[in-house]
Amino acid sequence: RTVYVNGEYLPETEAKVSIFDRGFLMADGVYEVTSVLDGKLIDFDGHAVRLQRSLDELEMQSPISKEDLLEVHRELVRLNGVEEGMIYLQITRGAPDDRDFVFPDPETTAPTIVLFTQNKPGLADNPAAKKGMKVISIEDIRWGRRDIKTVQLLYPSMGKMMAKKAGADDAWMIQDGFVTEGTSNNAYIVKGNKIITRAKSNDILHGITRAAVLRFAEEAQMEVEERNFTIDEAREADEAFITSASTFVMPVVEIDGAKLGDGVPGRVAPRLREIYLDESR
Ligand code: PDD
Repeated sequence: RTVYVNGEYLPETEAKVSIFDRGFLMADGVYEVTSVLDGKLIDFDGHAVRLQRSLDELEMQSPISKEDLLEVHRELVRLNGVEEGMIYLQITRGAPDDRDFVFPDPETTAPTIVLFTQNKPGLADNPAAKKGMKVISIEDIRWGRRDIKTVQLLYPSMGKMMAKKAGADDAWMIQDGFVTEGTSNNAYIVKGNKIITRAKSNDILHGITRAAVLRFAEEAQMEVEERNFTIDEAREADEAFITSASTFVMPVVEIDGAKLGDGVPGRVAPRLREIYLDESR
């Protein structure tokens, strides 16, 4: 696989980043995941805008213009022959001479940028979308700026492991009794024809897929309500689902061991998945 590191296209085995990189030492970095379908990028613009926002919030410089970033995405897709899959992009504050809590001077320490592709044939036709997924609920003990897409992913990763150990696929996180989001996705419930999802704030990542799905839902005359919901309300809901760049729309059929409805995907989530895949490619 060819990867991109600081301006160069290299075989993955030759790509190197310093041990002093603040991404490695302090999780001082941000990332984006953009999906690829039919060899084309899905919603690159949305991801580029959110990336800039994450960088701004952390007072980090971008090492690359938006136009050049698009070119690198396209070139990696081409070089690696990606038809269906993902592109991972990470920018960190770079590698100063020593480990120090103080941010390094951007004049002397350049950010590190890395991109690589992941081939995922069958991403759009994922059989998991027919079956639906099982989630458990766990306490949300992440930091308070989840709107910034940082590489601090230890707790989400632990949450995913807790889910696996419990025989489930993912975990929904709960703060003050209300669902925030999934470990790497936004969370929704459906009651009748109404789609309910938590409103944007610092408590959740402002999903690019979320924005697109809510827009398509409204265009399809579905009702959308952005508000908090509890895990009990979710267990009583008609349907539930998640969205993310890597899963698009995925029905949830079980929460904490209790089946939603008949325990199979309902009407709304599969329809939204279809609309999303149709409209965004
Ligand atoms: N995760 N919430 C969290 C905590 C996320 O990590 C993600 C994305 C989302 C959905 O955002 P989007 O629709 O822009 O992908 C919500 C990516 C896919 C990941 O970490 O792999």
